[in-house]
Amino acid sequence: MQEETSKVRLTTMSTKAGCAAKFGPGNLAKVMAHMNMQERKDDPNLIVGFGTCDDAGVYKIAPDYALIQTVDFFTPIVDDPYTFGAIAATNALSDVYAMGGKPLTALNVCCFSTGLDPEVYAEILQGGLDKVTEAGAVVVGGHTVTDNEIKFGVSVTGYVHPDKVLTNGGARPGDVIILTKPLGTGVISTAFKNEIIGNDGMKEAVVSMSTLNKAASEAAQDIGVNACTDVTGFGLSGHSYEVASASNVTIRIDLSKVPVMEGVLDLIAKDCIPGGGYANRSHYEKWVEFEGEVSEVKKTLVFDPQTSGGLLLFVPKERADDLLKKLEEKKTLRSQIIGEVLPKAEGEKYITYYEGE
Ligand code: CO
Ligand code: CO
Ligand code: CO
Repeated sequence: MQEETSKVRLTTMSTKAGCAAKFGPGNLAKVMAHMNMQERKDDPNLIVGFGTCDDAGVYKIAPDYALIQTVDFFTPIVDDPYTFGAIAATNALSDVYAMGGKPLTALNVCCFSTGLDPEVYAEILQGGLDKVTEAGAVVVGGHTVTDNEIKFGVSVTGYVHPDKVLTNGGARPGDVIILTKPLGTGVISTAFKNEIIGNDGMKEAVVSMSTLNKAASEAAQDIGVNACTDVTGFGLSGHSYEVASASNVTIRIDLSKVPVMEGVLDLIAKDCIPGGGYANRSHYEKWVEFEGEVSEVKKTLVFDPQTSGGLLLFVPKERADDLLKKLEEKKTLRSQIIGEVLPKAEGEKYITYYEGE
């Protein structure tokens, strides 16, 4: 992170922050329902298309080589331009890691307002460039649009061996579920925007959001996992639901094991909840079951939209310890076993949460 060189508060210039600015799962479903668009099922090289709500598209261009393509951009989640750029790039690169791939090239997506010091934009781009470089990839260009609400992100192209693609459809009963970053960025950034917490209260979230999921993805590929996704705008419940429905399994999560950033539960108790959290809850709640006594605070947490969240890994039980050890070796943030995969239960529920010991 760099010293704050500008006086502007980037987060005051938009109404929503980071991945909480997503159009919303309910809104998107309504748009898709009006469309006649179908995946090119006749194209044998399309490995992952938009039909399965996965993290990125995957397209085979040679027997041993598939391209991964994804784009993510959003409004400022922090005030410091350099840090905003770094977080936006980390978040976008994550979808390549979530497919088990390595990033190759990146294109900047810039919606910049006129009237701000050019230095601010230079810092945003520098933050993004440095992260892309840290990921071992190259920025090859980009596009700008004038926009009153600043937005920045990158479109990333990566690669993976076609046999090593990690989709959200591979989870199997008996798998253990590991989460590699703590939850809470939606709540924390809302608290920051509303000036309930200051820069100190943002620190843990900033470190987490600007940590690449590279090490976690490499560990997953080394050990071998059945499924993988990253936890971003749709929250733990939304992304778990995508895996559970694509894999036709039930996911059971012990809330006492789910890592949470410091102060987040208190902030939720003070009603510091992003709009995206409410949108996620109203869309995904019907597939979620809370077993036994679960506090309202924890019920809110599982729908909190994450920006640049961790990987959610589904690993066969006998390899779970090896994976945890590998994740520790590679110094991922806070990897923890949070649950297990069960055969699909009858009815419409896909996720069960309970408060363990
Ligand atoms: Co993703
Ligand atoms: Co995605
Ligand atoms: Co994405």
